Amino acid sequence: MDLRIKNVRKDFDLTPALHDVSLDIASGELVALVGPSGSGKTTLLRLIAGLEQPNAGTVYFGQDDASRLSVQDRQVGFVFQHYALFKHMTVLQNVGFGLTVRPRGKRPTAREINERARSLIELVQLAGFEDRYPSQLSGGQRQRVALARAMAIEPKVLLLDEPFGALDAQVRKDLRRWLRELHDVTGHTTVFVTHDQEEAMELADRVVVMSRGRIEQVGAPDAIYDTPASAFVHRFIGESVELPVYIEGGMIRLDGIAIPLSAADEPDGPAALVFRPYDVAIDEVDRATYPGIAATVVASRWHGRGRRLELAVGAGGHSMEIDLPPDVAPPVDSTLSVWPTRWTLYRPSGASLSHPTPAAAASMVSPIQQMAVAQ
Ligand SMILES: Nc1ncnc2c1ncn2[C@@H]1O[C@H](COP(=O)(O)OP(=O)(O)OP(=O)(O)O)[C@@H](O)[C@H]1O
Ligand SMILES: [Mg+2]
Repeated sequence: MDLRIKNVRKDFDLTPALHDVSLDIASGELVALVGPSGSGKTTLLRLIAGLEQPNAGTVYFGQDDASRLSVQDRQVGFVFQHYALFKHMTVLQNVGFGLTVRPRGKRPTAREINERARSLIELVQLAGFEDRYPSQLSGGQRQRVALARAMAIEPKVLLLDEPFGALDAQVRKDLRRWLRELHDVTGHTTVFVTHDQEEAMELADRVVVMSRGRIEQVGAPDAIYDTPASAFVHRFIGESVELPVYIEGGMIRLDGIAIPLSAADEPDGPAALVFRPYDVAIDEVDRATYPGIAATVVASRWHGRGRRLELAVGAGGHSMEIDLPPDVAPPVDSTLSVWPTRWTLYRPSGASLSHPTPAAAASMVSPIQQMAVAQ
């Protein structure tokens, strides 16, 4: 089932929780909504489910204006953020519940309900647990029951609001992989809310980044990561270094000192220089062929498969963390010259000026190797 959200606004007590949100979701897609707390993720999900009505705009299910469909007619399977199974019902009864409460004409027979519930329990890998009560299950098992229960009504759309929120990291990872596989089997159109950006990036066909009731960017995970549309997305998805700079006559200055990046044709004024921690080249200051940003090593530690340096930058008390290959180990207190090799300037107006691969970047890579040899 295609979903189309068109110019939707939702106010609570006159305060907008969603402003003019538009989003198209194709049938069978797995879409993740991410964003900070309060950005409107649950509200958007509840609007799709029909649990809230928009103040303006329309939600379409296929060609149908969903405002004409009741919650039941939308056939939405929903796993809530703070989900509770029915404590007094077994796993089998919980999963079959949505079918047993259907109006008489649409209700399958008891036997059909039983069969469907059992096959779903098998699908979520809980065969043998049919007669247990929720209190006799682990958190991850309960979430899987909740998913089976949401799927029992044969939903056209599956809406999951932080279904793994309360679980520990390893269980989340297992369930994440499992949910992706399950989606590939069932093919339900799925909208999944998480504030774990890693979870969204790993799981989703497309990621929707929300902030303050607006959609900041929609795209495939790698597109969002590689070409963030705003400073907010750059900060929110993946790690980033951010330095406050000032543009003057096409030069970029940090604490008044020009750095070797140019912003030709950019109007004068403040900007944020943003880059990924590993998109840097370094050299020792007194040898630097390209005078970069002067920075002093404050700390150096192992990080993943490389080394992370904590640096004090310039005179303005700024700091940044950069990632280097493991064999590059400038000592603490040494001073380095650092260049971003791939960077973006964000202006306060929201406009951005991107520099994916500046011409000089290729020649800046060599100092890293020189330094590795020198150590
Ligand atoms: N029933 C309500 N009455 C009043 N305000 C509400 C209501 N539901 C949500 N809001 C407000 O709308 C905004 C968006 O809330 P929402 O629950 O959609 O955020 P969220 O992105 O799901 O956040 P979280 O990650 O914390 O779950 C928040 O400012 C919230 O306080
Ligand atoms: Mg929420």
